Amino acid sequence: MGRLAILGALHEEIADLLAAMDPGTTIHRIAMRDFHVGTLWGTPCVIALSRIGKVAAAATASIVIREFQVSRVLFTGLAGGLHADVDVGDVVVASSLMQHDMDARPLFDQHEIPLLGRVRFDADAGLSALLHDHAGQFIRARGASAAIGRATLAAPNVHLGLIATGDVFVSHNDEALALRKRLPDALCVEMEGAAMAQVCYEFGIPFAVMRVISDRADHAAKTDFTAFLQNVARVYTAGIMEPLLKSGALAGD
Ligand code: ADE
Repeated sequence: MGRLAILGALHEEIADLLAAMDPGTTIHRIAMRDFHVGTLWGTPCVIALSRIGKVAAAATASIVIREFQVSRVLFTGLAGGLHADVDVGDVVVASSLMQHDMDARPLFDQHEIPLLGRVRFDADAGLSALLHDHAGQFIRARGASAAIGRATLAAPNVHLGLIATGDVFVSHNDEALALRKRLPDALCVEMEGAAMAQVCYEFGIPFAVMRVISDRADHAAKTDFTAFLQNVARVYTAGIMEPLLKSGALAGD
């Protein structure tokens, strides 16, 4: 039976998951990272902090796949909203991911991963549907407005669509605008998902990405991101994952 790998870029994004792992969890240190191997809410898991960025995410994904017999990889954390419909407090589940900073023109088309012949990587439809359903249930049950106290979070939504990844924290209005123009269907921007996705694609391992929107990738991104990271990120991740894992949906293959 393969494990579920759960990866996050910052400690706060996975802290409550680590705290909830069963006693007897073992920690394996590889390449300056701790891999926590054990059971989380009835599901065999390996949980790791990747650190930020595409290289960090790719390295961590490669390690979990090669060392810990994983059958699926989930990346969870925060993202900046790009699409007009995606606001702070919403949840985005990836249907596919792409690397917005990949540009080997004129040798290859913009965004194409050289010698792989692909721009987008499709997330596992079944795992993504489960995440989407459970994110919706979580948001309906408790909402996010109480957690952060901002009027704009009054009615958070869950979206399924394209996530754009790059080695850039987008925090200027003009950068966000340029991305929105170039990638009109991208829902949000983050710094790891499509790198993990490329590695999983190359290994033939199903994967999913779930992101909570912490900011609008604009001039206020740093302040919003920091507040969200401290106050909300962990609540969302654990709140969505606990019922999903307890349902046993991911425990049996
Ligand atoms: N993760 C959360 N907010 C982000 C932003 N504005 N840019 C890139 N990654 C992010």
